[in-house]
Amino acid sequence: MRFSTTLLPLALALRASAMYDDWYFGNMFALGPTSNNVHITKATYSLVPPAVPCGSQQNGSDEAPWLAIWVGLSASMSDQTADLFQPLLNWSPDQESQACPASNQEWCVATSTYHLSGQVQDPYVPVPNDSQLDFTITVDQASNKIIQQVSVNGKEISHQADDKTINPTYIYSSNECYLDACGTLAAYSWKNMTIHLSDADLNFQNTIALDGARDSGMTTPDNGKTWHINSMRIDRDYFYPDQQDHECGSD
Ligand SMILES: *[C@@H]1O[C@H](CO)[C@@H](O)[C@H](O)[C@H]1NC(C)=O
Ligand SMILES: *[C@@H]1O[C@H](CO)[C@@H](O)[C@H](O)[C@H]1NC(C)=O
Ligand SMILES: *[C@@H]1O[C@H](CO)[C@@H](O)[C@H](O)[C@H]1NC(C)=O
Repeated sequence: MRFSTTLLPLALALRASAMYDDWYFGNMFALGPTSNNVHITKATYSLVPPAVPCGSQQNGSDEAPWLAIWVGLSASMSDQTADLFQPLLNWSPDQESQACPASNQEWCVATSTYHLSGQVQDPYVPVPNDSQLDFTITVDQASNKIIQQVSVNGKEISHQADDKTINPTYIYSSNECYLDACGTLAAYSWKNMTIHLSDADLNFQNTIALDGARDSGMTTPDNGKTWHINSMRIDRDYFYPDQQDHECGSD
């Protein structure tokens, strides 16, 4: 759940050829790095999930593709040793292959952390239909942990606290498809994003990079210490082995 180092430094001209082994990365936004030893201390945001993808391809008993959408905090977008704290939604035509206890018309969600040694996550829980998910990632100095929480209607449904192995300097997202056969994913928007920094960084807004994404503008109520984005739209995305865009579904 990471970009290939070959994509940098312009990680964000990525799209078409963006892949790392069998992992294909789609539309995304990125903010960072922060300047002058300023770090991200907290991020909150919400999502009403789009419909699950349509048009996914799986041949016979081949391994199932899966698609994840996420926002994460890290200290690098290329260094594989920098952990990525990335609560994520996941879907597969074969949900069982993902240990997702849901129908293939539903998403699963879990707090999740990418370590070079492997992904560590809470068990998947089905996303209740038509619900808004609220995400919080907190860098807790007191306990020296990075804490991820996912809630629905004020009730926590997934939670994880990992050692604070990094001081986050980036917040970035992606659509990510294993095997490039996940089909068509409708557009969706990360909403009500608030990013708290350890100190003011007025340059933070200038680091924004968008690929198949559009933001509603960044505002700061306190001269650069806290940043707000009402809506970050991620455009419709396509993951097909023939590299073409195919339409399906009804949204
Ligand atoms: C959610 O909606 C899907 C698609 O309409 C349906 O298949 C599924 O059973 C619903 N799940 C719940 C828990 O109602
Ligand atoms: C936006 O997020 C903040 C911080 O989590 C929360 O207090 C507020 O209620 C949210 N606003 C809306 C409209 O959901
Ligand atoms: C499935 O088979 C079709 C036709 O041979 C091929 O175009 C497609 O790439 C295959 N999909 C996967 C995921 O291997």
